[in-house]
Amino acid sequence: MDVMRIEGGNALRGRVRTGGAKNAVLPIFAATLLTDEPVVIQRVPDLSDIRFMADLLRELGAEVTDQGGGTWRIHAREVGHVAPYELVRKMRASVCLLGPLVGRCRQAKVSLPGGCVIGPRPIDLHLKGLERLGCRNSIRRGYVEVNASGLAGNHLYLGGRHGPTVTGTANIVMAAVLAPGVTRIESAACEPEVVDLCRLLQAMGADIEGVGSHYLKITGVDRLHGCEHTVLPDRIEAGTLLLAGAITGGEVTVEGVVPGHMRALLDKMEEARIAVEADPDAGTITVHGSREERRAVEVITLPHPGFPTDLQAQMLATLALTSGISIITERIYPNRFMHVPELLRMGADISMEGPSAVVNGRPALYGAPVMASDLRASAALVLAGLAAEGETWVQRIYHLDRGYERLESKLATLGAKIERLPDSEMPSEFKEE
Ligand code: EPZ
Repeated sequence: MDVMRIEGGNALRGRVRTGGAKNAVLPIFAATLLTDEPVVIQRVPDLSDIRFMADLLRELGAEVTDQGGGTWRIHAREVGHVAPYELVRKMRASVCLLGPLVGRCRQAKVSLPGGCVIGPRPIDLHLKGLERLGCRNSIRRGYVEVNASGLAGNHLYLGGRHGPTVTGTANIVMAAVLAPGVTRIESAACEPEVVDLCRLLQAMGADIEGVGSHYLKITGVDRLHGCEHTVLPDRIEAGTLLLAGAITGGEVTVEGVVPGHMRALLDKMEEARIAVEADPDAGTITVHGSREERRAVEVITLPHPGFPTDLQAQMLATLALTSGISIITERIYPNRFMHVPELLRMGADISMEGPSAVVNGRPALYGAPVMASDLRASAALVLAGLAAEGETWVQRIYHLDRGYERLESKLATLGAKIERLPDSEMPSEFKEE
């Protein structure tokens, strides 16, 4: 396994380009199963999760080709309907195969997704939506089995205890586009990644109204055709890179972004007196200013357009070096705070009060060996290492590779002293027991 070694203290400076959005590509790849014609997807990031989804589609019978340069061609002439346990259990997002298999095959057998460190990750809303579309679901030996012979459009409500469900909305939309009749989804997720999926489906011939709102109206069609689609920029990677500039007190411009997808983050950065300039025409956002000017803020994660839970850990790390008391409340995944114990090892002053982290900003953090636990917690630890005094070793960075393409080289181009090493290079006293 690899580790990341970071020599902190450099203010990052320069320009860096963000890639395509992982959380759009995963349902979009699944959606290609809805047609027997080829679909070409561009601006696909080179990530382990994407390669994994490609293997799953191959397992289901699709011809999947990485044409290089971020372009993939997927042709699902024939499709099986069983997504095997040994593959699905490794990536929760595989659950978004349910919708397209129901739409294309009128049946599906997909392993129940495992939980993960950020929470139990239930799919009750996915199954409720499918039932409303006339599906008969059963849970057997770790699989969810769906009989969709009676698939038909209907009116359904998808809100849950934590608000809308992103992949749940994706699944129901993908099941409904080929369902006879009209489907109305209330409390649909409206994350930009869901919008991008709908845009792909419309390009394939689907009839979807209300895209970008919490209310979608889908009129089923008989079949969908192939198309070409360029994935939207990754707002979470872009936010992570901006916060890397902020936490080190540097000046960083992120290119190839849609500022309109990031309003909650930009608004919160401004409230914290982190200077940001967005240029929607140029597709850039620049962050600058020293850490001393900052002030503590309250952050509450919410469904889009609220503050994204996927940037909570990175914002918390930034606030750990912002004088004053900040309060970060996680409303989407209440225990998504695995980064906190590791930040404490670096000298942060954080206490937990239920779903909130109370952060007393410190003048400095100190490098230490830390352990990544999940994708975004890993990013938070890298950001803290960039700003800390001394050397930080981040272990288990395979978590990072799931959602960030070559993060260390992007940060190095901005002046970070960061390198990926085999874990054998770690000082022995830091090695995992
Ligand atoms: C998507 O996960 C993203 N993943 C997550 O990003 C992101 O954190 C999350 O949306 C919220 O924005 C992908 O798109 C692949 P949800 P998803 O269903 O769809 C509860 C990352 O770091 N819920 O919107 O699985 C659920 O437990 C990842 O890139 C139910 O109760 O999230 C959570 O508390 C992490 N029942 C909340 O809703 C359900 O049936 C939101 O979950 C479904 C969800």
